[in-house]
Amino acid sequence: MIIFKDVTYQYGEKTPPVLEDLDLIIPEGQYVALIGPNGCGKTTLIKHLNALLIPSRGGVSIDDMDTREAARHRDIRCRVGMVFQNPDHQIVGMSVEEDVAFALENLAVPLRELTPLVRKALARVGMEGFEKRAPFTLSGGEKRLASLAGVLIMNPRYLALDEPTAYLDPAGRRRILGMIGQLHLEGMGIIHVTHDIGEVADADRIIVMELGRIIMDGTPAAVCAFLMSRDNPGLEAPAMAALMAKLKESGWDLPTNVISLEAAHREIHSCLTRLAKAR
Ligand SMILES: Nc1ncnc2c1ncn2[C@@H]1O[C@H](COP(=O)(O)OP(=O)(O)OP(=O)(O)O)[C@@H](O)[C@H]1O
Ligand SMILES: [Mg+2]
Repeated sequence: MIIFKDVTYQYGEKTPPVLEDLDLIIPEGQYVALIGPNGCGKTTLIKHLNALLIPSRGGVSIDDMDTREAARHRDIRCRVGMVFQNPDHQIVGMSVEEDVAFALENLAVPLRELTPLVRKALARVGMEGFEKRAPFTLSGGEKRLASLAGVLIMNPRYLALDEPTAYLDPAGRRRILGMIGQLHLEGMGIIHVTHDIGEVADADRIIVMELGRIIMDGTPAAVCAFLMSRDNPGLEAPAMAALMAKLKESGWDLPTNVISLEAAHREIHSCLTRLAKAR
């Protein structure tokens, strides 16, 4: 379980807090999405998950390991895999193979054991054959997949992803989202930062942040209803919910807390069926 207890974070002593009095519990195996406008503190929050940042006040614990204890950092970083917002930040080696192996090399896994593990991790993200490529020659999407492989090789219990579908084409996006869904099914806890609520319709829970605070935390349907009920600068209600609201305005009997295309299709279809029966 991940616990944030009354967490406040400031980048500098004289700068205002970026996270303020934040309380949050993420049980093992939960799929949590984190949304909010630019600069609201999403990246800052998830950097607390593997002790890249330590709270200025309050505490964060990962499976009972307090991130304030430096001796725990290694275990914490094995427990929580992190895929950064900018994949260039995760490039450290001369080849994709070195990059993917980096974390395990750090943990002193013998070299001969690494090669098959690297191959397996790359295959898991659909990047077979990229072992010898120089990381800087990869496309944005390929870099992201390679950094995901470098995290999966550690077999973490939780996976934090900072806008994992940015720069990806629709096929790459579907592939990453499918992979996240699959990892969740296999029991991995997921913390998924995104600007597109449409891609986290299947999350167990969506957390909405604004100005360093959590302003809403609930099921996708509840968060959708919340977003529809207010004007959100920098945060859009789901496109499907907006469409349903417009249809409702025109007299259709439809719910508006709908996020995914599939759910919208289902609702419109059943509405049409009801209308046909009534005639
Ligand atoms: N290293 C830093 N030093 C000082 N301020 C920082 C630093 N990193 C981030 N900030 C500030 O902290 C605030 C929160 O930034 P953060 O990157 O967590 O936001 P975000 O929600 O991830 O935004 P985005 O959606 O644009 O990625 C912003 O005002 C940002 O300018
Ligand atoms: Mg960010």
